[in-house]
Amino acid sequence: MKIKNSEFVISAVSKSQYPDDQLPEIAFAGRSNVGKSSLINMLLNRRGLAKTSSTPGKTQLVNFYDIDGLFRFVDLPGYGFAKVSKEQKATWGKIIETYLTNRETLLEVIQLVDIRHKPSQEDKQMYSWIKDFGFSGIVVATKADKLSKNQIAAQIKIIRKELNMNKESVIIPISSSERTGKYDVWDLFNEVFEV
Ligand code: GTP
Ligand code: MG
Repeated sequence: MKIKNSEFVISAVSKSQYPDDQLPEIAFAGRSNVGKSSLINMLLNRRGLAKTSSTPGKTQLVNFYDIDGLFRFVDLPGYGFAKVSKEQKATWGKIIETYLTNRETLLEVIQLVDIRHKPSQEDKQMYSWIKDFGFSGIVVATKADKLSKNQIAAQIKIIRKELNMNKESVIIPISSSERTGKYDVWDLFNEVFEV
């Protein structure tokens, strides 16, 4: 897919702020700091479109990005950020749930996990949520530049097992800093948009 123009649409808290046309969407979920915003930037060849930060918790709202007026990427707020209060965690859950349960145009939710770590309890919960909602359960394993080839293969096995992934579900290692895995992700997205 050749992208000509991508732009930020809106940061939404409530449902009423979501774009109300019928464009298909692909959303990105994962713990804070896992690299959701960085992945979006890599896929769109845009350095600073989605704001990234080494401080977790940068993306707290549901951010919509328009791609050539054809479809949207949706950057969901990151979970698992230790320094937030119980109330903030509950708010986060509500924001995500509101989005996932009210979005007819949502084609897939992509789960991001850090390839270096065993998925957390929240990763597992998020992933089973995604499956329960009927999405195919695509996983992107980020920060692959931090590991060797052998380590990547070993971690992928662990992640598959811990998330209880089906054989049919795809997991793609990527590195936003080294810009690897970009075309693997796009190949998959092209399939998603074709159905
Ligand atoms: P929140 O908005 O807090 O939910 O975080 P996020 O998931 O959007 O993470 P973000 O893209 O802001 O990246 C967090 C940090 O990880 C930044 O310092 C990025 O530069 C770094 N990072 C993201 N992807 C990669 C990667 O593939 N490799 C390496 N080495 N660093 C990465
Ligand atoms: Mg972010």
